[in-house]
Amino acid sequence: MKADLLPAIMKQFQLRQDSIHGIEHWRRVGGLGLMLAEKTGADRNVISLFAYLHDSKRENEFVDLEHGARAAEFVTELYKTGKMSISEKQLEQLTYACRYHSDLNAKSDDITVMTCWDADRLDLWRVGETPDPARLNTDAAKVPAMIEYSGQMTKDFLKGDR
Ligand SMILES: [Fe+2]
Repeated sequence: MKADLLPAIMKQFQLRQDSIHGIEHWRRVGGLGLMLAEKTGADRNVISLFAYLHDSKRENEFVDLEHGARAAEFVTELYKTGKMSISEKQLEQLTYACRYHSDLNAKSDDITVMTCWDADRLDLWRVGETPDPARLNTDAAKVPAMIEYSGQMTKDFLKGDR
């Protein structure tokens, strides 16, 4: 990730940094996504960008149906202004993953997009929800050990033991 990208994302973020959709969530999604990528072969660059961008256009912590679409537009804008050095294929994967990440009916057969969505859903523990394997896309995320690991990660985080 380019050095000036995170400041550009943070500058426009409307919620508190420590909100349930804030930077600590983004960091965990990035960590979980890269771990899943070892098994799925997903594009690591897209995973990291997705982690820090997918919720960056949220305007509230509750129902904000358009935040995925706004994130996708933000991705395009950042790409056009040279803040991301990615290929057109990566741009397409990232935009699609951001646009539809909170739409449970959305489908993709792109392993990178599927891995992005799973990384986000594995961090549902933070709001007291156990990730449901039926709503996960990749075999790597569905295994009980991975779901347990993500839960432990959140518990450690909430204890302040990162
Ligand atoms: Fe998220």
